[in-house]
Formats: sequence, C-alpha cells, structure tokens
Amino acid sequence: MPAPAFVDALNEQIANEFAASQQYVAVAVHYDADTLPRLAAFFYRQAVEERGHALKMVQYLMDQDAEVVIPAVAAPRNGFADIVEPIQLALEQEKQVTQQIERLAKVAREAGDYQSEQFIQWFLKEQVEEVATMSDLLTTVTRAKENPLWVEEFLARESFGGEDDEAGAPPTAGGDR
Ligand code: FEO
Repeated sequence: MPAPAFVDALNEQIANEFAASQQYVAVAVHYDADTLPRLAAFFYRQAVEERGHALKMVQYLMDQDAEVVIPAVAAPRNGFADIVEPIQLALEQEKQVTQQIERLAKVAREAGDYQSEQFIQWFLKEQVEEVATMSDLLTTVTRAKENPLWVEEFLARESFGGEDDEAGAPPTAGGDR
C-alpha cells in the first residue's frame, strides 16, 4: 500500500488535474468563439492530456488498492480580454502544477514510499515539457498580439506542443491516454 499521506495528496492532485482540464476547455472555447481554430485545437488537446493525467493517478491508486475519491472541481475562469491573457494564465497554472507534483515527490520520499516516488517521476518530467511549451507559446502570442492570424499560421506550420511522451508513461484508467 502507498503511504496514507501520499494517497491523500494524490487524491487532491486528481482534483487539480481535472480542474486544469476544465480550465483548458474554457480557454479553447474562448479561442474557438473568436474563430482561432488552431489555438482552440491546441487547448482542446491540452485539456484531454490533463484529464489523462488525472486518470493515470486514478489508475495508480486502484492498482495499489488505495481509496480513490473522484472530486468536485473548482470552476475555471471564463472570459479573457485578449489572446495573450489565457496563455499567461495557462503558464501560471503549469508552474503551480509543477510545485504540486514536486510536493507529491517530497511526500513520497519522506514517507519512504519508493513505488510512489517512482510513479511521480514521469509527471515531473512531463511538467518540464509543459512549462517550456506554454512559455514558448506565450512568447509567440505576445509577439503577434495585434495579428492573431500570424499565430494561427505558426501553429499550422510548426508541430507544437505535441502529445504526452508515452514512453514509460503510467497506464490511464479506462485505457485512453
Ligand atoms: Fe497535468 Fe500540465 O499538468
């Protein structure tokens, strides 16, 4: 069994990951309503990834015979002033998630729960990529603030953001990614 403190912290993180997913749906809808389909598609994809992170955590708890509590989720922010603001929010969110994942690693290590410590390693690596991607996107969008179509062309041209690195990824409840 994983350490009880880790189980509690991971259940809290499941709520954070679902909340991140909802926030990215809200951002995607903002861009979609503004007819910026590439930006919208990027955030719809990110939303699916965050849901996947939550379900990887759910699967781990089930595999370890620990209690899983599917949580209520904090309301996302809707309504943004321009095309830059949602990505500033997204970058802040990713930095916050990084701190949350680091805390989970610390809880596992301090409890001597080596399996949980190993489980959380993939998420630490994933956060490096997600913060870097969001930071690059913020630079791009800030540069093109007055010309959103330039961002759309950029996203169409470059393979940007990609998908989770599935190599060594923990399994996802329900079998999706
Ligand atoms: Fe699942 Fe980007 O945090």
